[in-house]
Amino acid sequence: MCGIVGYIGKRRAAPLLLKGLRRLEYRGYDSAGMAVIDGTLILRKDRGKIEQVDNRHNFEELDGIMGIAHTRWATHGEPNQKNAHPHIDCTGDVAIVHNGIIENYMTLRELLAREGHSLTTDTDSEIIAHLIEKFYTGDLLGSVRKALMQVQGTYGLAIVHKNHDEIVVARNGSPLIIGVRGDETFTASDASAILEHTKKMIYLEDGEVASLRPGRVMVRDLHDKEMKKNHETIGWDLAEIEKAGFKHFMLKEIFEQSESIKNVMRGRLGKKIKLSIKGDIKGCGRVVIVACGTSWHAALIGRYLIEKIAKIPTEVDCSSEFRYRNPLVGPGDLVVFISQSGETADTLAALREAKKKGAKTMGIINVVGSTIARESETGIYIHAGPEIGVASTKAYTNQILALMLLALDLMQSKDGDVDEKMISEIKSLPGKIESVLQEDKRIHAIAREVADHNNFLYLGRGINYPTALEGALKLKEISYIHAEGYPAAEMKHGPIALIDENMPVVFIANRGKGYDKIISNMEEVKARRGKIIAIATEGDNEIKRLADWVIYVPRTADELTPLVNVIPLQLLAYHVADIKELDVDKPRNLAKSVTVE
Ligand code: AGP
Ligand code: GLU
Repeated sequence: MCGIVGYIGKRRAAPLLLKGLRRLEYRGYDSAGMAVIDGTLILRKDRGKIEQVDNRHNFEELDGIMGIAHTRWATHGEPNQKNAHPHIDCTGDVAIVHNGIIENYMTLRELLAREGHSLTTDTDSEIIAHLIEKFYTGDLLGSVRKALMQVQGTYGLAIVHKNHDEIVVARNGSPLIIGVRGDETFTASDASAILEHTKKMIYLEDGEVASLRPGRVMVRDLHDKEMKKNHETIGWDLAEIEKAGFKHFMLKEIFEQSESIKNVMRGRLGKKIKLSIKGDIKGCGRVVIVACGTSWHAALIGRYLIEKIAKIPTEVDCSSEFRYRNPLVGPGDLVVFISQSGETADTLAALREAKKKGAKTMGIINVVGSTIARESETGIYIHAGPEIGVASTKAYTNQILALMLLALDLMQSKDGDVDEKMISEIKSLPGKIESVLQEDKRIHAIAREVADHNNFLYLGRGINYPTALEGALKLKEISYIHAEGYPAAEMKHGPIALIDENMPVVFIANRGKGYDKIISNMEEVKARRGKIIAIATEGDNEIKRLADWVIYVPRTADELTPLVNVIPLQLLAYHVADIKELDVDKPRNLAKSVTVE
């Protein structure tokens, strides 16, 4: 998920690699490291910013004309020196850097340990170095191919061996590019790291491995078949590349959701749900979910999921309220803390409060090794990847799916069977999210028509009431337009007084439970000349009669609708803010991680 740079040629590698790493800083990371070959393999790595790691380990002084470097964004194992990449095998001859997640690393780890390998880190990545060692008989590329045959998961990989004048790279689901200029060859996970050296790139595809030598590249597939590759010339400038061609990080992150959602499922979905929860949650009689902001909205959805699927009473609280109301929690309760950053001060204080009272605590966290992740007894990482935009988007969808997996796991622990249809619905989510993202142009057009309004109302029912809250929060945060989310039926108890032709009302109106009631609420708005934007199920033509604009989403299980419904709401908020020429990625007065009360 984070950054890789590699170089083989005629200049000293270390300064080039260091510069490349700095170009990748914008992506967010927690550790940095480098391995260069200079007669022997030299390894330097640590936790912290590149600047700090360089000050401590002096990368610049390293000689050698080939090497690999990495910025890590931990997914498995805390960010610390030992877990930073590169990772080496038992002999110290092989070094690897890895982006992505190895799903079957536990099985491989046990196997390798039984065969006498000594694994010293907590990462999923380290097994790759040992597998290469296991299969190595003098041919580096061959041993990498054999190693990768054993591996399930995603990877962008760069590998060096003390006795080889080559870098081997591989890709499966995590980007890797190769650049050649004269008798120098570069590789990186992101073009920005090497763009100053060359604009001519070879894009590695999934299932391909390549041997890089000075000025030469040979690409093969895992079965050793040679692959013909063409060079492509990059026309983008650096700023464009950082955002993958999107105007803002937020937009990039919205569009990443069809991919990032896969990372929360990875290795966890099967006949049984596998969450590696520490300790026993079987006996828990009550669940309490605690969070702030967008994470609190995910928590509200979690309540519906856990009560419906696992049939366990569930409460939700804002962290700031929970911590000060002397909450009645204790042994027998599972208290779940949701936080993208894992550092939110109120949520951390709430966690400490729950621990003091003897409850079992669980974190649902994006940033591995963050304080809440460390202090919770057990947890589920959501693996959304670094989120740079202050407004949370891809972390939210991954939080919801993590809660869905938790609900299924709790149900399973009460000896229930996981519904296979639900598992296949979950697996079809990436495609469905992708199809909602295709509606972007239309949503942009709607945004243009409504951007000059000063007030918006968002209405939803049941599991999509929190979706209404989240849609309103996104609009508020980045466009500074007043927006409120309400349970749709509550409208007639007050907010209906606000409705006139100047009030756009966004309805979350999927076919299914509560649909007829939502239609009645829409009638009420229409009768007062309110403007209606409806999020509706594909094929629902009837709704056009009431709505001024309809945005269609694919049909899915009721429990999963929040995941497809929120995408158009994120896009709507984004486009409105962008039309108003606001600083979308850094909205005024907001911080990415709120570490103060
Ligand atoms: C999300 O768009 C917000 N910026 C904010 O509400 C955020 O969700 C909240 O501060 C909680 O952050 P956390 O998930 O890192 O704990
Ligand atoms: N899964 C690996 C780790 O936790 C790689 C993380 C990354 O992509 O930076 O170390």
